[in-house]
Amino acid sequence: MAVLQSCLYLVVLLSVILPAAKSLRNPAMRLRFGKKGEFKILQVADMHYGDGKATPCEDVLPSQLASCSDLNTTAFVRRMIRAENPDFIVFTGDNIFGFDATDAEKSLEAAFGQAIASNIPWAAVLGNHDQESTLSREGVMKHIVGLKNTLSRVNPSEVNPIDGFGNYNLEVGGVQGSAFQNKSVLNLYFLDSGDYSTVPGIFGYGWIKASQQFWFQLTSAKLKRAYMSKPLPQKSAAPGLAYFHIPLPEFSRFDASNYTGVRQEGISSPTVNSGFFTSMVESGDVKAVFTGHDHLNDFCGALNGINLCYAGGFGYHAYGKAGWPRRARVVVANLETTSNGNWGTVKSIRTWKRLDDEHLTAIDAQVLWSKTSVGGLI
Ligand SMILES: *[C@@H]1O[C@H](CO)[C@@H](O)[C@H](O)[C@H]1NC(C)=O
Ligand SMILES: *[C@@H]1O[C@H](CO)[C@@H](O)[C@H](O)[C@H]1NC(C)=O
Ligand SMILES: *[C@@H]1O[C@H](CO)[C@@H](O)[C@H](O)[C@H]1NC(C)=O
Repeated sequence: MAVLQSCLYLVVLLSVILPAAKSLRNPAMRLRFGKKGEFKILQVADMHYGDGKATPCEDVLPSQLASCSDLNTTAFVRRMIRAENPDFIVFTGDNIFGFDATDAEKSLEAAFGQAIASNIPWAAVLGNHDQESTLSREGVMKHIVGLKNTLSRVNPSEVNPIDGFGNYNLEVGGVQGSAFQNKSVLNLYFLDSGDYSTVPGIFGYGWIKASQQFWFQLTSAKLKRAYMSKPLPQKSAAPGLAYFHIPLPEFSRFDASNYTGVRQEGISSPTVNSGFFTSMVESGDVKAVFTGHDHLNDFCGALNGINLCYAGGFGYHAYGKAGWPRRARVVVANLETTSNGNWGTVKSIRTWKRLDDEHLTAIDAQVLWSKTSVGGLI
């Protein structure tokens, strides 16, 4: 009887506590820095998933062709997750190559399967190929947000209607138990860079529209206000990182003297400049932008205090260069320690890439931003 009573009591208690605990949480702040004062993000660009085992690889050595399929992409995701044990995984579009995916839902589930199985929170944005199978762009994004462990969202409520599907932001809280546990010390922005122009007379790829930039400006200003107000008001905005698929026209402003990595093909940005780079420079919080789309480019270059970075091609059913390994980008933010020995705000943001070779060789390590440097220059 006593056991039954305490069981009942527990059920009643839980049914009171759980919804309350849930409503206390800031829904955008499900991510936070770990006990070591670190937050690590794995970026996977251009998986180009098709139908799995039946879908062959592109641009591998002739000797590799027979044994290569989408399953090699799956294996690479699994190895990267094991090697880096990230806190968060971001898929920056062309997650599936729609033309060769018989069933979009199945292909998406296979593409994100390793992230789902890892129990690590993940997010995705759309590329220009995700909608070419059995689902529209809206359908793909709606399916993604229903998958397990994802923090992806279809669109914000603050700006409605907004162009595209998959415009949202996430806040990364300070270390649990530290003074910054309720503050977002790192902000992540996700945008839909579209697929192709639908405007007569303008050819080529899509771009980030005015409605999306307006949402970005509102969100950035709101986050900055919160970060600079009590408790613990900060002097300037928390650093931000932006993830989307298609590179901005500004990616073409570099040459080998001022980027880290390689540029082995043209920059496939839209033919018009919609001004999103300028919006980010004006807002002042975004320190780095991460895209995919051009599989043979994997560089990072800094312009006006913002690093513009490619991840390099990841998927095997995607064009690449035989003998030039598929790759992924890792970003790590580290916190500073305060005078009382507690964890504080973000001190530095670093990046490197890993190659899908035998040892998952890490290359091109660089600092993207540090708190002590002026204007993000190193
Ligand atoms: C693809 O995976 C198979 C099976 O593990 C492996 O034998 C092959 O070397 C891989 N191919 C490439 C290009 O990595
Ligand atoms: C953070 O918020 C929780 C819940 O509202 C509160 O109990 C805690 O004291 C806050 N901690 C700090 C450091 O602000
Ligand atoms: C990179 O260097 C070239 C000269 O080699 C210069 O023309 C270009 O403006 C530089 N780009 C940036 C973003 O600094």
